[in-house]
Amino acid sequence: MPVDPQRSARSAATGLLVPATTAPRRHGVAFLRGFLRNPGQVGSVWPSSRWLEQRLVQRAGIAQARTVVELGPGTGGTTAAFLQALPASGRLLAVELDPGFHGHLAHTLDDPRLLLELASAERLADLLAARRLPAPEAIVSGIPFSTMPADVADRIAALVAQVLRPGGRFVAYQVRAHVARYTAPHLGPARREWELLNVPPVRVFSWTKPA
Ligand SMILES: C[S@@+](CC[C@H](N)C(=O)[O-])C[C@H]1O[C@@H](n2cnc3c(N)ncnc32)[C@H](O)[C@@H]1O
Repeated sequence: MPVDPQRSARSAATGLLVPATTAPRRHGVAFLRGFLRNPGQVGSVWPSSRWLEQRLVQRAGIAQARTVVELGPGTGGTTAAFLQALPASGRLLAVELDPGFHGHLAHTLDDPRLLLELASAERLADLLAARRLPAPEAIVSGIPFSTMPADVADRIAALVAQVLRPGGRFVAYQVRAHVARYTAPHLGPARREWELLNVPPVRVFSWTKPA
């Protein structure tokens, strides 16, 4: 089958173009329903694009990681992209607050490396301990820091910095820049960039925890 580069994503793991037909499915309608249920908590009307997914895979170093955490997997497009790049022996802990999204993920993603939790990111340290997971090399977050109470956002940013392995990476994608303000006291200034090929265009912030 010929590969159309306009409708394809480049795999971070292999560098090959992934045709749209085999690229992870994003379940846009289920996502939109989730947004209508709880707009502030979901923070976006449409799932991340494959271009954003691949930028996150690269920035977080998923292909070199053994333990990865995803905060806010939603309908699982990002989760599927991370699983595509993750080594066979890796683990991906995905923490989702919305029960509808959590049920959707449980029905649509079947991978022994994936550990799903219906919980708030505020419980990150407990969840890692309960699963006996080592400190993650990468944490990727899509949760909207701009709409949650400031004390919750503060706690989550502190927890991320605390549980991340030294030398590990924290990558957050957001329309607004609040996450940088909450994270800077713990991990310093972020590398900042935009992903324009997304609806809407989003900022991508990356940090590396000092070794
Ligand atoms: C912008 S969506 C990202 C969805 C998906 N990762 C994507 O990129 O298409 C943000 C997600 O974070 C979840 N969320 C919001 N606050 C959360 C929290 N405190 N803990 C865990 N998940 C949370 C929402 O329910 C939603 O699924």
